[in-house]
Amino acid sequence: MLSCLCADNQASKMPRRFFVGGNWKMNGDKASIDGICEFLKQGPLDKNVDVVVGVPAVYLEYVKARLPEDVQCAAQNCYKEPKGAFTGEISPAMLKDIGVEWVILGHSERRNIFGESDELIAEKCCHALDNGMKVILCIGEMLEDREAGKTEEVVVRQLTACAKKIKEWANVVVAYEPVWAIGTGKTATPAQAQEVHAQIRNWMKEKISPDVADATRILYGGSVSADNCRELAKQHDVDGSLVGGASLKPDFVKIVNANVK
Ligand code: PGA
Repeated sequence: MLSCLCADNQASKMPRRFFVGGNWKMNGDKASIDGICEFLKQGPLDKNVDVVVGVPAVYLEYVKARLPEDVQCAAQNCYKEPKGAFTGEISPAMLKDIGVEWVILGHSERRNIFGESDELIAEKCCHALDNGMKVILCIGEMLEDREAGKTEEVVVRQLTACAKKIKEWANVVVAYEPVWAIGTGKTATPAQAQEVHAQIRNWMKEKISPDVADATRILYGGSVSADNCRELAKQHDVDGSLVGGASLKPDFVKIVNANVK
């Protein structure tokens, strides 16, 4: 019994592997993508970091064929059904069919520009995970939420919707992305990021399980750059970053290599 407990404790104390995601959003053409694949190939990229780039769906296969083998591809969205009359959508089954294992879900641009609800995002996460995908689940508060002191309430609301549906968290990476920091050049300070990351981990510990809280990577996203990535990565509960604009530039290599833990 005792040895069992020890084994469990040790398993839960395994260090979380650093993770850096790139989110290309609706950017790139074949010529610029060739350039990105080239600087990723040149690297060198820290072998102890999981690197996943979020690619526009139309280029997924093109990029997959050109990335170095230690960099994986993610779709930026997928639907909650396997197939059917859902014009314009793609399913996890289709992504798996072309060898894509990761998907970014719940990005604030999907929530705020395309009106995706907490409920829909939870359904998408659940369907993607049930179909063997790995999910980068984005959450984060708007500026008015932060100014009203509602940051924790908002991220907990977003997480709770998902937790009602997600049965297994092993294939989930959470990205905390304060909306006011995305694409604005206004990064959260390392202390602000750490505060929310700790709240998220605490919530996971209480509402899911201590093991899930210990094992789940929580990334910071929002104007991450070569200049600020190391200070962010030093924070205890920051396990990497989700990078938009800077993931299109060679600086992304520096951000991948900012694993200072
Ligand atoms: P940014 O975007 O790095 O350009 O702020 C981050 C994101 O939207 O994931």
